[in-house]
This record gives sequence, C-alpha cells and structure tokens, in this order.
Amino acid sequence: MRTSWLLSKFSFLIILYGVVHIEAFHQTHSSTFNLNQTYKPSFHFQPSKNWMNDPNGPMRYKGLYHIFYQHNPKGAIWSNNSIVWGHSVSKDLVNWFSLQHALTPTKPYDINGCWSGSVTFLSNNRPNILYTGIDKNNHQTQNLAIPKNASDPFLREWIKSPKNPIMLPNIVNKINATSFRDPTTAWIGHHDGLWRVLVGSQQKDNRGITLLFKSKDFINWIQAKYPFYSAKKIGMLECPDFFPVLINGTFGLDTSIKYDHDSIRYVLKVSLIDVSHDYYLIGTYDTIKDVYIPKNGFEQNNNELTLVIRYDYGKFYASKTFYDDAKKRRVLWGWINESSIREDDVQKGWSGIQAIPRTLWLDKLGKQLIQWPIVEIEKLRINPPVKLHSKVLKRGTLLEISGVTAAQADVEISFEVNDLEKAQALNPSWKMDPQHLCTENGSKVKETGLGPFGLLVLASKNMQEYTSIFFKVFRANKKHVVLMCSDQSRSSLNHKNDLTTYGAFVDVNPIYDELSIRTLIDHSVVESFGGQGKTCIASRVYPTLAINDNAHLHVFNNGTVDVKIEKLSAWSMKKAKINEIH
Ligand SMILES: *[C@@H]1O[C@H](CO)[C@@H](O)[C@H](O)[C@H]1NC(C)=O
Ligand SMILES: *[C@@H]1O[C@H](CO)[C@@H](O)[C@H](O)[C@H]1NC(C)=O
Ligand SMILES: *[C@@H]1O[C@H](CO)[C@@H](O)[C@H](O)[C@H]1NC(C)=O
Ligand SMILES: *[C@@H]1O[C@H](CO)[C@@H](O)[C@H](O)[C@H]1NC(C)=O
Ligand SMILES: *[C@@H]1O[C@H](CO)[C@@H](O)[C@H](O)[C@H]1NC(C)=O
Ligand SMILES: *[C@@H]1O[C@H](CO)[C@@H](O)[C@H](O)[C@H]1NC(C)=O
Ligand SMILES: *[C@@H]1O[C@H](CO)[C@@H](O)[C@H](O)[C@H]1NC(C)=O
Ligand SMILES: *[C@@H]1O[C@H](CO)[C@@H](O)[C@H](O)[C@H]1NC(C)=O
Repeated sequence: MRTSWLLSKFSFLIILYGVVHIEAFHQTHSSTFNLNQTYKPSFHFQPSKNWMNDPNGPMRYKGLYHIFYQHNPKGAIWSNNSIVWGHSVSKDLVNWFSLQHALTPTKPYDINGCWSGSVTFLSNNRPNILYTGIDKNNHQTQNLAIPKNASDPFLREWIKSPKNPIMLPNIVNKINATSFRDPTTAWIGHHDGLWRVLVGSQQKDNRGITLLFKSKDFINWIQAKYPFYSAKKIGMLECPDFFPVLINGTFGLDTSIKYDHDSIRYVLKVSLIDVSHDYYLIGTYDTIKDVYIPKNGFEQNNNELTLVIRYDYGKFYASKTFYDDAKKRRVLWGWINESSIREDDVQKGWSGIQAIPRTLWLDKLGKQLIQWPIVEIEKLRINPPVKLHSKVLKRGTLLEISGVTAAQADVEISFEVNDLEKAQALNPSWKMDPQHLCTENGSKVKETGLGPFGLLVLASKNMQEYTSIFFKVFRANKKHVVLMCSDQSRSSLNHKNDLTTYGAFVDVNPIYDELSIRTLIDHSVVESFGGQGKTCIASRVYPTLAINDNAHLHVFNNGTVDVKIEKLSAWSMKKAKINEIH
C-alpha cells in the first residue's frame, strides 16, 4: 500500500516538477515521511484514529471539560450507518483523555447512527443529552440520554430514555423526515417554566428553518406554531446554536440567563449544508412571545443582501458553543475538515480535527463577534519567543524568522501602515467578493500599493511550497478597506489536495488600528485570527517538502509601499497529549 502510494506520488511529481524536486522529495520522504503521522496535528483535538466530524454536547461538569464528537469507529471516512458519539475529557481544554463511546447505534430509533446534539443542565444540575437518531427507515428523530451515574465526573455511561424518540418529524406540520436534526442546548422561559429547544430543518422551496419545541418535563415536547427563524433559498439548516451575549463585556452567559433587554443580544448560528459554512445572526429575543429578531439576515432587502457573517472564512463547520462557568466565558468548538482526497484520508487512517476552542464575545459596536483561541493554549508556548520590534519591512522583502519550530508554532504579528494614500483604489467594477480579490493575484508582486504583506508559513527551503496569510489595504470613498487572505495555492506540490484561497474583509481602520494576525501552525493546520479576532480563517495544507524540521517561517512585504512590523512574537509549541492510546 505505502509503496504504491509513494510510487504514484513519485511519478506524479516527475511529470510536474522534474528532477530537482524529486531529489528533495526522495531525501525527505525516505526517512521521515509517513502520510499518517506527518500531517497529524500536535495540539488540535482529534480521536486517536478514524473519522470525526461535528463537535457535540461540549460542557464542563464537576471540574472536567467534556467534548463529544461525531465519530466513525470503523474507518477514516464518514459512514451512513455507524456514527457514534466519541467522548473525551480534559482538565484544561488542551490535553485530552479518551473515554468509551457515549452513544452508539443500538435502538430502532438510532440504529443507523447517533447524530449531533447538545447538553442541557436541568434544574438538578444533571446534564441531559438531546441527540438525533437515524432510525431504521432512515428518518431523523430526537432523543434523550442521561448519565448512568451522575456522581461520576467522567460521565462514562449514558442511558437512553425509555420514552425515546421524544420528537418525531411527522406528527405535526409535516416535517421532512430526512431534514430534522441537531437539537440545541435548551433554555428555560422564566415566565412559564417551559424548556425550549431548536431543531434544524428545511421546507419546500429550499427554505431553511429552525423549529422551536417546548416542554415542561424535557420528555414531552410540543412544536411551536411558527418556526423560530427561517430564510428563503438557504437550503437545509443544520446544527443551530442559540445563545446570549453581553452588549458591553467579554464575559459569557448561561443560555438560560434571565432576560434583560438592555444588556443582552442573542446569537443564532446556522450551518448551511449547501455551502458548508457556518453563519451567525445577532438580534433580540422576546422570551414571552418567542420571537427572534435578527439585525442582519439572509433575506433580500431593497435588492441588497443584508450582511450575514461567518465565524470563519476558511474551513470551519457544524460548530457549537458552551458556557464555561469556571471562567465565565462562552467557548466555541468547530470542525475543520480535511482538504485531502479520500484515498489519502484512508491511507493516513484518520480524517477531521477540531479547531482550537475559541472564546467568543460581542464586539463593542455590536456588529460582530470576536473570537480568540482559549488562553490555555498559551501553556504550550515554549518561552522565550523569537521577537521583532519596530522593524521596517521594505517593499519586496522576504525575511526568515529562524529559531522557531515552524511546523508547530504560534505566531503573533502586528503591522503599522502609513502612506495610506498610496493604497490601491478599490475598483467599483469588482464584485465585493473578498475571496475573489484574494484569489486573483494571491501574494504575488503587482503594482497594487499597500500589501500584500504578512506571514509566509510552512515554506520549503526553496519556496516550492508555502502558505501565505496576508493583508492588502484598499481605498474606497475616503475610507479604507482591509482585506485578509489565506492563500493555499502553493501549499503543497500534491495538487490533488484542495488548494483553494480564502479571504475576508477585516473591520478595522488602518488609520487608528494596528493590522494584526495571529496564526496557529500545526503541521497540516493553519488557523489565523485577523484584527485581534475579528476575522478568522482556518485552512488545511499538506506540504510534501515543508514538513517538520524542513518547514520555514517568514514575514514578507510584496506590496510597493514599505510597512512597519510593530511587533512580532513567534513561539515554538509543545505537543499536547490528545487521546493517546494507553
Ligand atoms: C448506506 O450506503 C450504502 C451504499 O451507498 C447503501 O447501500 C445503504 O443502503 C446505506 N444505508 C443506509 C442506512 O442508508
Ligand atoms: C458512581 O460514581 C462514583 C464516583 O466515581 C463512584 O464512587 C460510585 O461507585 C459509582 N456508583 C456506581 C453505582 O457505579
Ligand atoms: C426532504 O429533505 C431531503 C434532503 O434531506 C430532500 O432531498 C428532499 O427533497 C426533501 N423533501 C421535501 C418534500 O422537501
Ligand atoms: C460598559 O462597561 C464599562 C465597564 O464595565 C462601563 O464603564 C461603561 O459605562 C459601559 N458602557 C455602556 C454603554 O454601558
Ligand atoms: C470538506 O472538504 C472538502 C474538500 O476540500 C470540501 O469540498 C467540503 O466543502 C468540506 N466540507 C466541510 C463541511 O467543510
Ligand atoms: C501509520 O503509520 C505507521 C508507521 O508507519 C503504521 O504502523 C500504521 O499501520 C499506519 N496506519 C495506517 C492506518 O496506515
Ligand atoms: C491583480 O493584478 C492586476 C495586474 O497588476 C491588477 O490590474 C489588478 O487590479 C489586481 N487585482 C487585485 C484584486 O488586486
Ligand atoms: C512575491 O511576488 C513575486 C513576484 O510576483 C513572487 O514570485 C513571490 O512568490 C511573491 N511572494 C509571496 C510571498 O507570495
């Protein structure tokens, strides 16, 4: 198997890159290259092997963090009949210990898979799982499971309720039985004592909806007359997530917090399967009438698509948050899919990772959420970092940052730009499509003015491979528009990988604000946070040369105007202990 893979890769490279690179490829790979190990992240969550997708039911219980996840224990690809809830616990959200599967297909109502769901703490402080079961007819049902022994902080065993299934698609309102899944964490209405939960669905004509169900006892659920939220043409809406955020402050709030109109907004996140992206809305929620009014949305408004916002403009899907009562914060988990071909996933024996958990809060202007890697991940930083201060990066500069394990690093950089008048004018004929703007010229030198400048990560010695994360500043009607890109087009000599370039705008004003990027580099993961967490882009890359000690880190300025590095700190990262086999 391995030999034939290497041979085919070998001939592939002969055709594309000629003799010199083959030499390098051969030298590197004969000793250290092993598909299933080379790309394995060192500090991103994943099971010890096989397939993983959505994060499920994250919580903190009796001093331990729990994460459950969609898992196929039988192989490295998704399965339509054997998905279980994998389960791991942690004291610090960094190092994880793997436990037995929490839920496996055993009953008629979940015999074809235990799909996504959430945890809710009931008034006795016991965690209850609501999850989607795929029944023997391939219909989707919602089900309840409770801990077998609530005194056990590991919550190793779960009992499925004898009342299951507790929500069926076909009782009321003719819900599409193959589009009815992923219950949220439930919340209580303080005026009527009823629990409320959302379930994702779609109706005819491709309308995506979140259904609202209510219950007195968490077992008998009644569907509300009207959907909680719906939007035309968005297709199946999966993995809804609904939670309150403070208008003024970074602390997180419990989902069942008592409603205070003046200090809270509510976030509704939806995962759209047609485009594989997570979007969120920010709005107000009237608990009495159960009406959610988002300020932004998917609907056409005066022919203008009102703004919808993504958590992440790279790969990040089926995310879910939880309230961490220990640190009074809301934490976001999200699945980052592979970008390799199925055969390579099978060969390496695993597929799918979770993004570094992100603390999340509403920004001061209330326009968007800010996301930042949980502070605990900084424990893996090896001090002292490599540093730069007040360093001018002249046009056309490429500067290597040495002394860092470039394949396993945490890098923070901030730039100061002057000469804003030299920024390229934003051509009104361009579609305001940031991904397109990033893809058109990548990080190549063009007569564009301010930028591209930024980081060049996982670069091979002779630049046959690299991934660049960079800014470009444009002028638009006396304002400035800042574009952030993550360009994977040169990330791997293996062109069978998905090498899509990602991009998004960053809501900063370069007159006052620094332009900053933090990038977590973890072998096959490049997770970037622009503008102190305003714009996030996660990507997967599979270099064939720039691996382990052969990976290099650089800063660059390929614009035609000088910029200044205000500060750079680059840390080598330790390996976390994640679900190691004991
Ligand atoms: C799973 O997929 C296989 C192959 O496409 C199909 O034969 C089988 O019926 C599917 N099973 C379920 C439960 O959908
Ligand atoms: C429940 O868990 C606690 C704590 O781990 C343990 O002491 C107790 O023996 C368990 N009870 C049963 C019935 O297993
Ligand atoms: C039900 O959902 C499935 C996707 O799960 C879709 O293919 C089908 O068209 C839907 N049926 C109706 C009547 O909307
Ligand atoms: C926001 O909170 C800060 C400190 O908690 C307070 O000083 C300020 O007045 C608050 N602003 C608003 C608009 O409530
Ligand atoms: C998974 O990766 C493939 C290949 O890059 C991509 O087409 C697909 O949209 C991704 N799915 C998700 C959920 O991210
Ligand atoms: C991964 O690589 C190791 C070491 O070469 C090998 O023992 C193992 O069988 C491989 N696993 C898979 C799933 O290919
Ligand atoms: C790409 O480069 C061309 C040629 O220099 C230039 O005309 C165009 O404006 C650039 N596009 C972007 C989005 O920067
Ligand atoms: C900078 O531009 C040059 C010329 O277009 C190109 O060869 C080089 O790869 C670019 N550097 C980066 C980091 O993209």
